[in-house]
Amino acid sequence: MKKWFTSWQRPMALVAILLAVFAVQAPAHAQSTAPQPGPSVVGGTRAAQGEFPFMVRLSMGCGGALYSADLVLTAAHCVDRTGTNTSITATLGVVDLQSSSAIKVRSNYVYQAPGYTGAGKDWALIRLAQPVTGLPTLPIAHTTAYDSGTFTIAGWGSAVENGPQQRYLLKATVPFVNDTTCNNAYSGELVPSDEICAGYVSTGGVDTCQGDSGGPMFRADSSGEWVEVGIVSWGNGCARPGYPGVYSQVSTFASAIDAAAASLGG
Ligand code: ARG
Repeated sequence: MKKWFTSWQRPMALVAILLAVFAVQAPAHAQSTAPQPGPSVVGGTRAAQGEFPFMVRLSMGCGGALYSADLVLTAAHCVDRTGTNTSITATLGVVDLQSSSAIKVRSNYVYQAPGYTGAGKDWALIRLAQPVTGLPTLPIAHTTAYDSGTFTIAGWGSAVENGPQQRYLLKATVPFVNDTTCNNAYSGELVPSDEICAGYVSTGGVDTCQGDSGGPMFRADSSGEWVEVGIVSWGNGCARPGYPGVYSQVSTFASAIDAAAASLGG
């Protein structure tokens, strides 16, 4: 019978076996406890100054994206109603909300998606009292062409469920989750025509969270330019396994958003 190891080799072989077992287990263990690799948001990392220059922080504790020089696209659940509203302050142009170079502009009008009652249709436009110059806008998706793949999420919301709001913009990437999987996760609560889901269903760990609402979920288009495909809307907790993040499906509302923007003067 063939001996596998001589006596002096045996301890070394044991070490090698232990190392091999550890090497195999380590990545799986790391995956279950640590955020997925990738660029708050839960499981995120700091965005660089200027990386997502269209990002807007709203004073009621929501996010948004600059749609035009004086319009911010956000979530309907972040605002009360359509009408004159001078109570919201938008902070723009910085990743650090306490930066002295932050641009701060008041709102003068809010347009909440018509028919919004809490299920679907979760979008709104906030008109700024002065147009913002020197910042790029984030174009919205007008077709479903980009409603799949890997998305970037960003915001100043909680970095852990029930955690505090963030001073510095956080970012992460999350994969598309199809409507069937998402609707099953949420026992039929999804409004598939109005909502698009994203996240790591099996592991959790990366997600938007409270305070990220209204902010954009976006990806690169065929020219490599960012395009907004989702608006942070809701989820069960944050980054829990089995529960993807739910976003307003921008492509569904693109025409309505453009028409509302035109009616608001730009
Ligand atoms: N509704 C939350 C807000 O107002 C956003 C929740 C997003 N949750 C999630 N698990 N993706 O900020």
